[in-house]
Amino acid sequence: MTVLITGGAGFIGQHLARRLVADGHSVLALDTLLGQVHVDPQASVAAFPGPVIVGDVADASAWTDLPQVNAVVHLAAETGTGQSMYEVERYHRVNVEGTARAGAFAADRGIPLVALSSRAVYGEGRHGCLIHGVAFGAPCCAHTAPEASREADPHHPVSVYGETKSEGEAALGPVGAAVPVTIIRPQNVIGPGQALHNPYTGVLAAFLAMLKEGKPLTLYGAGTQTRDFLHVEDLAALIAWALATPPQPGRPRVLNAGSGVRTTLLELARYAAAGAPVPTYGITHLDIHRAGDIDHACADLTLVRAVGAPLPRWTTADAVADFVAASWDKTGAPASAWDGALGELRERGLTS
Ligand SMILES: NC(=O)c1ccc[n+]([C@@H]2O[C@H](COP(=O)([O-])OP(=O)(O)OC[C@H]3O[C@@H](n4cnc5c(N)ncnc54)[C@H](O)[C@@H]3O)[C@@H](O)[C@H]2O)c1
Ligand SMILES: [Zn+2]
Repeated sequence: MTVLITGGAGFIGQHLARRLVADGHSVLALDTLLGQVHVDPQASVAAFPGPVIVGDVADASAWTDLPQVNAVVHLAAETGTGQSMYEVERYHRVNVEGTARAGAFAADRGIPLVALSSRAVYGEGRHGCLIHGVAFGAPCCAHTAPEASREADPHHPVSVYGETKSEGEAALGPVGAAVPVTIIRPQNVIGPGQALHNPYTGVLAAFLAMLKEGKPLTLYGAGTQTRDFLHVEDLAALIAWALATPPQPGRPRVLNAGSGVRTTLLELARYAAAGAPVPTYGITHLDIHRAGDIDHACADLTLVRAVGAPLPRWTTADAVADFVAASWDKTGAPASAWDGALGELRERGLTS
């Protein structure tokens, strides 16, 4: 089949495209080649194994003259959590309107849609409590422990990015009645090809820059925050499965995507340091909290397992080492760029 991948020139899109082509499919991308993501747009286009149509998913005219395709994977999005807190309109336009237009296109053409949402819709997510049972969004009292988020859990986004992802999912409601719709909520996706220049995303890219410059790894806070890291190949396999195994129209499907393993940022820093070909300069802590940041995130994979979707194969340590090895010789933004992004938040009163 021929698959239209919006945002196909980006990190996940490039991996997915190669995976689909290896499986015998054809791909084309619809992508604005956003400057914040693509330092060398020509190289991004050249790397994509199919035609790249330059267009904005939030723009109605971008959807009118597209060639015949058999399915759509909607990846195009603005993805900076911190940046979303002040670029509110831009994030709404691309992530909500753009998703609604992707849905309308799939419904019009009568073809299946796989759309990437995010674990950001859960916000602080699920907490188990000895006294109160389960709490969502924020811990109810001091007797809670974070638990893995399930697909049916309520949405409690704490960032504008998360809000736009939640609204984007809602915008697909009517589409799911007409054509097969799968919504996937990835945790933190890592791997070769991840943006090294975009200081608005990616703690791991920041660690890489610090390691290369012989600087200690800076953690915001104690480093006890947890995340779930998924290798991009494992996500590509899940999306490929969703395309090959569409749900019934009228029964839209939502799936988590993660490793199901909780990793502290301190552990992540150690994995990154262990994967680097140079000695490391330890870890420093910056006592700061960024608006939009959450403490804990982890995916519950019960449903993924139950529907027979492929489970992740990469361990977190191996996934981090793969990213570091593949990225070591690539140029990226200097570590100071992440200080700059933090400075922008601080100036706007979005840190505490
Ligand atoms: N990388 C992660 O950790 C992660 C986690 C959860 C969800 N996601 C979701 O996965 C999807 C892909 O993310 P990614 O990591 O590959 O990001 P990315 O920034 O590498 O890729 C996004 C692509 O979308 C393009 N784009 C941006 N705005 C556009 C617009 N208006 N019209 C057309 N194209 C546009 C960009 O040029 C880029 O090529 C996004 O929807 C993101 O929210 C990613
Ligand atoms: Zn409680």
